[in-house]
Amino acid sequence: MNGARRSTIKRFYKQPLEERLAIAQAWGQLSEADLQALADTGLSQAQADLMIENVIGRYSLPFGLATNFLINSRDVLVPMVIEEPSVVAACSYAAKLFRAAGGFTTSSDESLMIGQLQLLDLPDLATAGTRLRSHKEEILAAVNEASGSFAARGGGAVDLEARPFPATAIGDMLVLHLLYDTRDAMGANAINSALEAIAPLVERISGGRVNLRILSNLSDRRLARASGLIPAAALASETATGEQVIEAILEAAVFAEIDPYRAATHNKGIMNGIDALMLATGNDWRAVAAGAHAYAARDGRYRSLTRWQKDDAGNLKGSIEIPLALGIVGGATRVHHGAKVALKLLGVQSARALAEIAAAVGLAQNFAAMRALATDGIQAGHMRLHARQLALAAGASVAEAQSIAEQLLRENRIRLARAKEIVDERKRDI
Ligand code: MEV
Repeated sequence: MNGARRSTIKRFYKQPLEERLAIAQAWGQLSEADLQALADTGLSQAQADLMIENVIGRYSLPFGLATNFLINSRDVLVPMVIEEPSVVAACSYAAKLFRAAGGFTTSSDESLMIGQLQLLDLPDLATAGTRLRSHKEEILAAVNEASGSFAARGGGAVDLEARPFPATAIGDMLVLHLLYDTRDAMGANAINSALEAIAPLVERISGGRVNLRILSNLSDRRLARASGLIPAAALASETATGEQVIEAILEAAVFAEIDPYRAATHNKGIMNGIDALMLATGNDWRAVAAGAHAYAARDGRYRSLTRWQKDDAGNLKGSIEIPLALGIVGGATRVHHGAKVALKLLGVQSARALAEIAAAVGLAQNFAAMRALATDGIQAGHMRLHARQLALAAGASVAEAQSIAEQLLRENRIRLARAKEIVDERKRDI
């Protein structure tokens, strides 16, 4: 159904909000209730009260759509929920450049989560792992019994791995990993329940004592990948050739490879896009961020999550590989109406498809930041959007915010104090 449609919506950002909403409605076949969810917070007071404790209200953020994405030949509009200006625009711009050379190619692993059991007080660390492995079928069967619905849907327990840590500060420790296929769910509850259910059996087999029973957020069996090309010609600016821009981007990439101080910021830019998609779809962005940063440090030094190079034809080639433990069922995806709308707009049928889109978004976001940083700097574009926020913060009405922002930019005084002065001057003039 998505095949004939193009996510390259002309001047989407220039259209009034109502027009954009109408496009989104047609794209995602949104119902009146969906539109209502976009207009308010997507979450009733009563639902919020059931979601967490001590609720006193709800909290809104802007919900935008990044355009131009072409992923494995499918046109995608990416829902993004974020407070930071420039992210949606930068992501859309990057997707447009990748699109010119065929868009993104993506892949992903099965939805394999890792659950950890911490075993202590073992009679013999050396043999405990072997004993547990020799009872693997029994343990996996116990897991599947405890979590029937995943096994029925083709998921469930897949394997066990024993990781010995001799002579730690608390003595010998064996960490037993349960690999568990959570299909289209993020799976935190399923795997934590399974771990708690099998702990007594694992204690009996190993002769040890189980302390912690919890998933690992370093979901490195659940990686998603995306790659794409940008032709040099598409990168030429008024002041630099496309080749020069590619060289500057490759220099920036090396910076993020060798220096953790830069890598942290570089990866934060990647997460700007991914987290915005996580928020929009009701996914646990803290889990995703924890996994991403741990994966970035997997070889002992924290480094970039993306790779950039020049291919033989002189194109800029980018790729990303990142753990993405996402769900399209369960958790907030089921409760939050805004998340349901986001999933409708995406038209994804599996958690893996969502993870692949997230990987492409991360790559696009990273490219946009690197291109800006390696050419004009990010402040020019950023300040344009920031000026609007300042105008609102200074007490401007929504109707006058744009013209006040333009005045701040014209005067090159993009400061809250000046925005307040203008708001006051205009009030006096009425
Ligand atoms: C800002 O939110 C993100 C950037 O700092 C990312 C980067 O430096 O690559 C622009």
